[in-house]
Amino acid sequence: MKILIAYAGKTGTTEKCAKRLCEKLTNATTVDLNIQTPDIDQFDTVIVGGSIRMGQLHKKTKKFIEQNAVGLQTKRAAYFLCCGSERNSAELFSKNFPKDLLDRAVSYECFGGEMNVENLHGFDKFVAKMATKASADKKLAPPKINDENIAKLIEKILN
Ligand SMILES: Cc1cc2nc3c(=O)[nH]c(=O)nc-3n(C[C@H](O)[C@H](O)[C@H](O)COP(=O)(O)O)c2cc1C
Repeated sequence: MKILIAYAGKTGTTEKCAKRLCEKLTNATTVDLNIQTPDIDQFDTVIVGGSIRMGQLHKKTKKFIEQNAVGLQTKRAAYFLCCGSERNSAELFSKNFPKDLLDRAVSYECFGGEMNVENLHGFDKFVAKMATKASADKKLAPPKINDENIAKLIEKILN
């Protein structure tokens, strides 16, 4: 089984998650959609992921899904997203991924996220600081990568 993990993020979390998937799956290849556009016909199984900013899935992930909408319907496919607010993940999925693809997916999971304010600049840093403060005020735990959900998706892919 040849597996493609196609992903796009901005500050490294999505890439980290894609690499964690890849380490656990034999015969898997990661492709950063910021750099390359893979041909899904070369693979039996396709995992597509992206990060969320301002409620929106990374535009390279969105474009890849749009361009491969027909192919993805007939493949074994799974999807993941990285975000700061896991509790909103159901809404983020339904807003950003076509329903028919989610309905046919082997699995789709939210892998959580990270918020490293010191790695950000300008407007991004401002938004991240506001979000971090708002979470702290509500006594919410800071975001982190959800390895349980990564394991869940892997299990579905392997079964
Ligand atoms: C400017 C900015 C906006 C963000 N907007 C959202 C958002 O709307 N919803 C959310 O759940 N997380 C949001 N996040 C959190 C990111 O999804 C999180 O930091 C994720 O780990 C980023 O993944 P990446 O490093 O692969 O880009 C935002 C982060 C930044 C910096």
